[in-house]
Amino acid sequence: MGKARIIEILEAPIINSTVDINGWVRTRRGSKNVSFISVNDGSTIRNIQVVAESSNFKEELLKKITTGSCIKVIGKLIGSSGQEQNLEINAESISILGEADGEEYPLQPKKHSLEFLREKAHLRFRTNTFSAVFRLRHALTFAIHNYFNSNGYINIHTPVITGADAEGAGEMFKVSNFNFNDIPKKENGEIDYNKDFFGKQTNLTVSGQLEAELGALALGRVYTFGPTFRAENSNTSRHLSEFWMIEPETAFADLNDNMDLAEDFLKYCIKYCLENYREDLDFLNSRLENEEKNLKKEERSEMSLLQRLSFVIDNNFERISYSEAIDILRNCKPNKKKKFQFIINGFGDELQSEHERHLVEKTFKKPVIITDYPKEIKAFYMKMNDDNSTVRAMDILFPLIGEMVGGSQREEDYVKLNKRMEEMNVDKDELWWYLETRKFGTCVHSGFGLGFERLMMFITGMKNIRDVIPFPRTPQNAEF
Ligand code: 4AD
Ligand code: MG
Repeated sequence: MGKARIIEILEAPIINSTVDINGWVRTRRGSKNVSFISVNDGSTIRNIQVVAESSNFKEELLKKITTGSCIKVIGKLIGSSGQEQNLEINAESISILGEADGEEYPLQPKKHSLEFLREKAHLRFRTNTFSAVFRLRHALTFAIHNYFNSNGYINIHTPVITGADAEGAGEMFKVSNFNFNDIPKKENGEIDYNKDFFGKQTNLTVSGQLEAELGALALGRVYTFGPTFRAENSNTSRHLSEFWMIEPETAFADLNDNMDLAEDFLKYCIKYCLENYREDLDFLNSRLENEEKNLKKEERSEMSLLQRLSFVIDNNFERISYSEAIDILRNCKPNKKKKFQFIINGFGDELQSEHERHLVEKTFKKPVIITDYPKEIKAFYMKMNDDNSTVRAMDILFPLIGEMVGGSQREEDYVKLNKRMEEMNVDKDELWWYLETRKFGTCVHSGFGLGFERLMMFITGMKNIRDVIPFPRTPQNAEF
């Protein structure tokens, strides 16, 4: 291990001291007499410049210092403190820890497309963009745990393997150790899941909510933060088959408390990144500005990334009911001119991403929380309103992203929940334990699910969800 990480040297330089670093070469340039080697060790987006005088090193060694190679450098820190761009290491010794054949190494010191880098996901951490993105992914993870910890929430680990379909949408990956060529069948020809590993049909979880509710009804405030899996065949820039979800669940909280929590939480997370990871965000801000330079004026974002983040922190989210949203959408220009792919006719219509984005980007120009959806288009566990037609649901929609959060107050009434499960053909035998909490000491409670990668997209300005998770899983793709 090197004695110092580059960030430590840059932030508290001791001029003329001997430093010892390890890192990966970004570029080497120079003349016959001297080489300037730009080194990065992942601790910061900034590189440090190493100066190697040719007379002190064998030519054979210098030749191996190519982009992508890993080196160890010991030398004297020179330059003036306070002027970081003047800091350099005057190399006394250089060792090659790992060569990177200049002909073969796929990442050259030039701009590569994000699509190309997706195919090189094993190496893309070494680019400025992805190192910034993944440092921010860590920052956001930390901020999330920090927020809930400071607010009295207990982190619980809900199972990845489950028999339940929490969302009732049937989008589950099966878990089994059957020999696919010889699956045990019952006499009537049905698959005999009694003979499967768990003695029943199991799948990868689509949400930790149902188990989180059990926790909340004893611990008061809980949250989960884990991987969730959806076998929906949607190849979009906002869907993953494996994504991470944060699901707080709060006892004695109604829908309004739930919305207040979600809004405060989202603002905290964004603020945390701005305050603690400014350098990476500055980089991503310029990256986006450069990318948009090539777009037509009307296609460019109205705000820069940093402006967008500050704007969300500084403004209250708009809160409207589903019915109000439908009224706005039914009468809006793109609907009347049939510009939407899905035309809004009235109450009961599902809101597609084009409608959600119209509301946040055109109508309100800020995050919008939509509440009280028709019961038919929401999950069985949501609390029924007195009108018997809408449920106490809330979706939070964000500019450029669409749905960021989905949540609700939960139906805590045993009789009503039982009835709703029957109406919606939810397997009551499978979820007997969930129902039982409504029999024993039930109470008003609420929760929501935040798509971690969706928030990552908003914070980093990356436009494809595949670029904010190290190794994306999407239909037809599980490489790495
Ligand atoms: O709206 P969803 O399906 O809600 C639930 O799963 C509830 N059980 C949450 C709860 O109340 N505890 O999913 C929640 C969020 C969405 O708003 C979206 O941000 C994200 O998860 N999400 C996805 N993110 C990436 N890829 C996908 N395929 C996603 N599906 C949902
Ligand atoms: Mg949803």
